[in-house]
Amino acid sequence: MVHIFALVIALGALGRATAKPPETTQSLCCQHLSKSLPSIYLAPNSTEYDKSIRERWSGTAILHPGCVIAPTSTNEVSQAVKIIVKNKCQFSVKSGGHNANPGSNSIDRGVSIDLSKLNTVVLSADRSHVRLGSGATWGLAYDTLVNENIGFPGGVCGEVGVGGPSLGGGQSIFQARKGWIVDNILNYEVVLASGEIVNANQTSLPDLFKALKGGNTNFGIMTHADVASFDFDGVWIGTNYVAINGLAAPRAVMLDKLTRAMVNLVSGSNEEKETLVQLLVLYPSGPLGFLAHVAGIGLTNAANVANPPAAEEFLALPNRISFQSEHSNMSAYAHHNTQLLPSGARESNAGITITNDFATMRELWDEYDKIYDALPYKTEVDWIIQFLPQPKIQQSYAKGRGGNSLGLDHIDKDQIEIWFQPRWRDAALDDMMKNAQQKFVAISEKVAKKHGTYSPFMYISYAAPHQQPLCGYGAESLAFLKKTATKYDPDGIFQTMMPGGFKLSKANCTTD
Ligand SMILES: Cc1cc2nc3c(=O)[nH]c(=O)nc-3n(C[C@H](O)[C@H](O)[C@H](O)COP(=O)(O)OP(=O)(O)OC[C@H]3O[C@@H](n4cnc5c(N)ncnc54)[C@H](O)[C@@H]3O)c2cc1C
Ligand SMILES: *[C@@H]1O[C@H](CO)[C@@H](O)[C@H](O)[C@H]1NC(C)=O
Ligand SMILES: *[C@@H]1O[C@H](CO)[C@@H](O)[C@H](O)[C@H]1NC(C)=O
Ligand SMILES: *[C@@H]1O[C@H](CO)[C@@H](O)[C@H](O)[C@H]1NC(C)=O
Ligand SMILES: *[C@@H]1O[C@H](CO)[C@@H](O)[C@H](O)[C@H]1NC(C)=O
Repeated sequence: MVHIFALVIALGALGRATAKPPETTQSLCCQHLSKSLPSIYLAPNSTEYDKSIRERWSGTAILHPGCVIAPTSTNEVSQAVKIIVKNKCQFSVKSGGHNANPGSNSIDRGVSIDLSKLNTVVLSADRSHVRLGSGATWGLAYDTLVNENIGFPGGVCGEVGVGGPSLGGGQSIFQARKGWIVDNILNYEVVLASGEIVNANQTSLPDLFKALKGGNTNFGIMTHADVASFDFDGVWIGTNYVAINGLAAPRAVMLDKLTRAMVNLVSGSNEEKETLVQLLVLYPSGPLGFLAHVAGIGLTNAANVANPPAAEEFLALPNRISFQSEHSNMSAYAHHNTQLLPSGARESNAGITITNDFATMRELWDEYDKIYDALPYKTEVDWIIQFLPQPKIQQSYAKGRGGNSLGLDHIDKDQIEIWFQPRWRDAALDDMMKNAQQKFVAISEKVAKKHGTYSPFMYISYAAPHQQPLCGYGAESLAFLKKTATKYDPDGIFQTMMPGGFKLSKANCTTD
């Protein structure tokens, strides 16, 4: 019980929120910025402004800021922050723009800081790390270094930004071998609320360094990340599509086989660390889409071994629709994935973590199908749910690099991360999909709790607006994050003036 009260007190300390400033304050902000920083100022309704506000993966994230600034250097970010703070402007920060939650990376009326021009990609002379501008996409990073035979953990979709995953956890094809993306970051360069530019690493500001590795939008604007790199000869990719209702195997048999293959691959990846999978439930839109229930199986082997034995169960599945495999590289792989899930639709996010357990996953798949079947307009929806491995070895890499704030040090079981990410086009269906999103979270929690396989942790980059990912880090990590946020942002600028992302001052944790 003690920590509940501690949280309430901490909430009070962080929540010195001033009421949202009136609209005139907001337009004054843009006037100040246009005068002081004309070269990076994008005026409302200009072509460049329009392009910037639309660079969002999901239509649900496109808002209409009073103005956009697009800094090209850390110094310009620092100057902008000083002006924004002095004038009490509301603002948002965007890297790759892939988060679908409304308001996560943009803002109505306030100032949108678009980091996409802060996108340098540099391999250090000794090849020990890559230095990435926080507005670069992982695709750009892979493209730039494709001839260098260098590997580093990063997102698997080309257009995902460096910013989001580097402040939230970060899943890659190297998870079993290297851990979360954040566990491979050697140094963050950050602009604090004061405008001061600092480096956070294992020897300089180690508390901030640890906090940023999961701390999301509560500490500052990250401008560069140095990510540890290693020699890398390429990746084998295998993409297998199978029908769930097929001639060779009926639905129940297929779901059994898919679930068994997933559970076995996850537990095996503590030993065989190179082979991973993204397993997708794919029920396409279109008049007959609901008949074509498909499972998409994205296999990777980071040691470039074709048809690795660890993937055998997935490769041997009946009801095959298509299979393609090749020796490839991260650049080609990331762009291939971008084409599978291109921007331009509306998307919804939610995440849940379960223990790697056959009975739980199998029951959940049936439950998710019930949510899908009950959708009034399912022909308008690409129903996509991903199952992603989180072997326990993934949590072992944090301590060698100064720790992270995810609160997973004690995890001694393999887990599966489940990511709800359906797509649709018509904004009139937003409410229907919000309802499905809430049902996904509720049923996932219920079934997992029934099996004793529920984990309060969820990857913050997949969390729905109504979820509480910071609570999932646990009371100890949350208290550490709050203490550290108060130290580096004593006036709570990132709590009150930058509403996007998950805020420590809004973490409302129950204890069941
Ligand atoms: C198709 C697709 C594929 C994906 N693949 C992966 C994957 O392979 N691995 C993975 O880990 N995740 C993946 N994700 C999830 C992804 O991590 C989240 O969508 C994440 O929020 C996107 O990061 P971003 O920088 O592109 O997004 P943004 O929406 O620009 O940023 C996300 C959040 O972080 C904040 N932020 C961004 N940059 C900064 C910064 N420099 N300083 C302070 N705050 C900042 C923003 O304000 C926002 O709240 C994928 C998502 C999609 C839609
Ligand atoms: C931008 O365009 C919108 C829609 O056409 C309009 O309502 C708004 O007033 C314009 N804003 C400015 C600052 O010109
Ligand atoms: C850590 O930060 C300090 C202070 O800025 C800097 O001198 C040092 O090079 C940084 N270390 C790493 C590993 O980047
Ligand atoms: C990357 O892999 C693709 C195949 O997926 C290949 O066509 C391309 O030539 C490769 N690029 C380099 C630089 O090796
Ligand atoms: C916190 O969560 C509880 C239970 O989920 C809810 O009843 C309460 O209204 C929430 N409080 C705030 C301040 O959001």
